[in-house]
Amino acid sequence: MKLVRVLLALVAVLLIGLGGFVAYAWQPTIDPIEPSQAASFDPALVKRGAELAAIGNCAVCHTAPGGAILAGGLALPTPFGTIYATNITPDPDTGIGRWSEAAFTRAMRKGVDREGNHLYPAFPFDHFTHVTDTDNKALYAFLMTRKPIAAEAPANDLPFPLNIRMAVAGWKLLFFREGVYQPDTSKDEIWNRGAYLAEGLGHCGACHTPRNSLGAEKRGEHFAGGEAEGWSAYPINAASLAPIPWTVDSLTHYLRDGWEDVHGVARGPMAPVTANLGAVPQEDARAIATYVASVMGEPSPERKARAERLMAEPATHRPGAVVQTAGSQTVPVSATPENAGAAIYAAACSTCHDAGRPVPYGGLPLRLSTAMYGDTPANPINVILYGLPAPEGEKGPIMPGFAGVLDDDKMAALLAYMRSTFSDRPAWPDPRKLTADIRAGHEATDIRSLPTGSNAPANPSKRETAW
Ligand code: HEC
Ligand code: HEC
Ligand code: HEC
Repeated sequence: MKLVRVLLALVAVLLIGLGGFVAYAWQPTIDPIEPSQAASFDPALVKRGAELAAIGNCAVCHTAPGGAILAGGLALPTPFGTIYATNITPDPDTGIGRWSEAAFTRAMRKGVDREGNHLYPAFPFDHFTHVTDTDNKALYAFLMTRKPIAAEAPANDLPFPLNIRMAVAGWKLLFFREGVYQPDTSKDEIWNRGAYLAEGLGHCGACHTPRNSLGAEKRGEHFAGGEAEGWSAYPINAASLAPIPWTVDSLTHYLRDGWEDVHGVARGPMAPVTANLGAVPQEDARAIATYVASVMGEPSPERKARAERLMAEPATHRPGAVVQTAGSQTVPVSATPENAGAAIYAAACSTCHDAGRPVPYGGLPLRLSTAMYGDTPANPINVILYGLPAPEGEKGPIMPGFAGVLDDDKMAALLAYMRSTFSDRPAWPDPRKLTADIRAGHEATDIRSLPTGSNAPANPSKRETAW
């Protein structure tokens, strides 16, 4: 009898739990509205909304290659399947034209659509939940005054049970903490502004914080380095790998202009982030930089000493070519298997990277590059294989791609040479395999067709957003 009672109690607990879960998971439909008149929004509010949308990278995800801006359709590959960004233009049938401001704010705050369905966290609502009502109002005004575009996003390609949106409620229960940003009263206004933007709309942690096996950001490893589209998003906390420690000034410059004198250019998925931050008020970029610099903290005396040592080295030298000296003569290296990497570097890279021409049009002396210190060589491999083309119609850093001339063995030799010459970290494990994988991935997806290009423009005055 005792066992039966225990079992009954267990069933009761489970039922209550299930009831609680359904109550938590169930979200009402918010009634559709008649599409708003564009003229009914204050132009100043719309302009602020445009800047906030830039900080939130809305157009980066919500625009398909070659498609209309914000009309959705971009495929976002996740470890669980493919999720398509939706149409967020005010088209009444395929976009969000029938969403009230309350429905829009609920989507941002809770990750729920107008009809009460849970949205997948590929939409970074775990960050957007921190956005204030005032800013959501501006974003809404901005979106509702865009040109309506009729375009249906393809259906998501997810396996059972992840294709059931109710499953997302379980994920939320485990990992999602809803709530508008609460200022830290021990910090000043600029720091709080930066934290609000970086943790909220800017969703820096979506790439820079590592994720657990269920795709949620690990709480204890804030900004400890993550992964995005096959690129490393380096740590931007106290574990920053940058050989020259970042400062508020250098971060502001990098975030707004997409490059910085002694840190080089922002590449891969970071390029559109900086391109967008180039179009927002300087104070906002500076606030983000202030917050990120404080998360990084003061560099250790050892890091500072290393930075001073690296900065003191001459701007022009030829490390690849000068590996041997005979008396006062320098003897060029020959391509033996032992120094194949050095020979490739001397022949193909040194003229641009050791010539003293300033960034962004000249290459950074690679001893100053975080790319040489990363845990994996994913970013340098991407850059070396596919180069850094100037964005269309703009002046920008130009580095040719070497995919056609350097096979996987040559790449492995070059990477091994660069790692041992330009950093004090242990050799990268198997750079040959990663090169082959990146090549295969590139052939499968063709990153050049991404809407954002693979490089940041060098001239911020060209950065007026396309809308
Ligand atoms: C990292 C990519 C990404 C970014 C950045 C992003 N979104 Fe999204 N968004 C998505 C995806 C993917 C979906 C669809 C999720 C789903 O189907 O569950 C979505 C869905 C939405 C929806 C729900 C639309 C609907 O029809 O259900 C709204 C509203 C929205 N996003 C607004 C925004 C706004 C505003 C911004 C910028 C502040 C933004 N998004 C930035 C990926 C993104
Ligand atoms: C879509 C993914 C993504 C988002 C969102 C993102 N980053 Fe990045 N970030 C990257 C990647 C990838 C790199 C490496 C770029 C490279 O190799 O040039 C990077 C590099 C950086 C660096 C240079 C680090 C170093 O030591 O070289 C800084 C600083 C940085 N990001 C700050 C930010 C901040 C602040 C935000 C939020 C406003 C942000 N990132 C949002 C992907 C992202
Ligand atoms: C025609 C000039 C040119 C040549 C040749 C060239 N690069 Fe570059 N490279 C650049 C420019 C310009 C940049 C962008 C500025 C920067 O970030 O260094 C760059 C950037 C890089 C970066 C990113 C550095 C950072 O952290 O920002 C790496 C890594 C790199 N190059 C490696 C190489 C290697 C390896 C070779 C030889 C196989 C090579 N480059 C050949 C011009 C060149």
